[in-house]
Amino acid sequence: MRKLETRTIVVASHNAGKIREIADLIGPFGFSAKSAAELKFEEPEETGTTFEENAAIKALASAKASGLPSLSDDSGIVIDALDGAPGVYTANWAETADGTRDFVMAMEKVEQALAERGATTPQQRTARFVSVLCLAWPDGHTEMFRGEVEGVITPAPRGTQGFGYDPIFQPEGYETTFGEMSAEEKHGWKPGDAQALSHRARAFKIFVETCLET
Ligand code: IMP
Repeated sequence: MRKLETRTIVVASHNAGKIREIADLIGPFGFSAKSAAELKFEEPEETGTTFEENAAIKALASAKASGLPSLSDDSGIVIDALDGAPGVYTANWAETADGTRDFVMAMEKVEQALAERGATTPQQRTARFVSVLCLAWPDGHTEMFRGEVEGVITPAPRGTQGFGYDPIFQPEGYETTFGEMSAEEKHGWKPGDAQALSHRARAFKIFVETCLET
């Protein structure tokens, strides 16, 4: 495992929700970071079929463009009753005809697909959020960190916090959806804590423990 020896990195993302969450997570470690969106890097096409492949595509594109270590996140929601869909295509389910993203529509699509399968009880609506963080160096070396959180898809969206599919995901052991949690509650982690809650915070905790010189 290669260690990250600098605190100057690029957050290889164009997704405002993810950039905000990664900024929260790296904040306490004294990073100086700009995002690929701020640096106006072109968004690479995600042609992979796994979270790992897509995370590597994004981190390597940014590391090459910036000459700096770059941290990407590829993530999505995996729904058992839909045979793992939308999975790596989670963002695509939100795409509209004019090229923008509409997550109210995407959450309705999920509900419709579950209704078509007759998945009405919580036991039939199990799902997990997955986040794969990839740290890539300009020389092409990569390290991956995977985090997952189990939960259920709620019958209707609840809450306005977070981003994307947060309002329909209720993590196991909680009465609230990610959309009803503050950012701190959703991460469920700060440096030194034994556990994290969100998929992204779980992946980040592995990154800190294995790769970061602290
Ligand atoms: P990608 O990683 O850019 O391919 O897109 C990931 C997709 O999953 C986006 O549509 C996000 O909205 C969704 N997603 C990933 N993580 C979260 C999360 O923490 N909350 C809600 N939606 C998420």
